[in-house]
Amino acid sequence: MTTAPTTDRVTLVRAIAAQHLTERGPLMPVLHAVMDELGHVAREDVEAIADVLNLSVAEVHGVVSFYHDFRTEPPAAHTVALCRGEACQSVGAEALYDETRARAGSLAADVEVTEVFCLGNCALGPSGTLDGRLHGRLSTERLEALTEGWR
Ligand code: FES
Repeated sequence: MTTAPTTDRVTLVRAIAAQHLTERGPLMPVLHAVMDELGHVAREDVEAIADVLNLSVAEVHGVVSFYHDFRTEPPAAHTVALCRGEACQSVGAEALYDETRARAGSLAADVEVTEVFCLGNCALGPSGTLDGRLHGRLSTERLEALTEGWR
């Protein structure tokens, strides 16, 4: 992921969009490429992509806002994604999710707590990922212990 000043960022986004111009349906590949390269799709990116692909800003914004995978803000330093699927719900995932969101600041200064729906680890719920790594049998105490290095 690259951190680029705004002008450089727009230049880079325009170049990414231009690379996909000849493809059929280039918008999704362009958005994924921007996410891969820059970590999120900023407002100025939407305008640049729309201009290069000859789409309206509303069309590009609509796709960015529709798909959960496209972020419009830079990602947090750490991520906690807790499963809220049925199997995990049956072993307390809802309470864990609510409590974790309420006290996210105690895990790290810059952390994002999100929800997912089934990680394929149902037998070991509540399940979740911490910075992308899968964990089972999560509890408030385990989350505190597993994120100790984040503080
Ligand atoms: S429901 Fe949580 S891992 Fe499947």
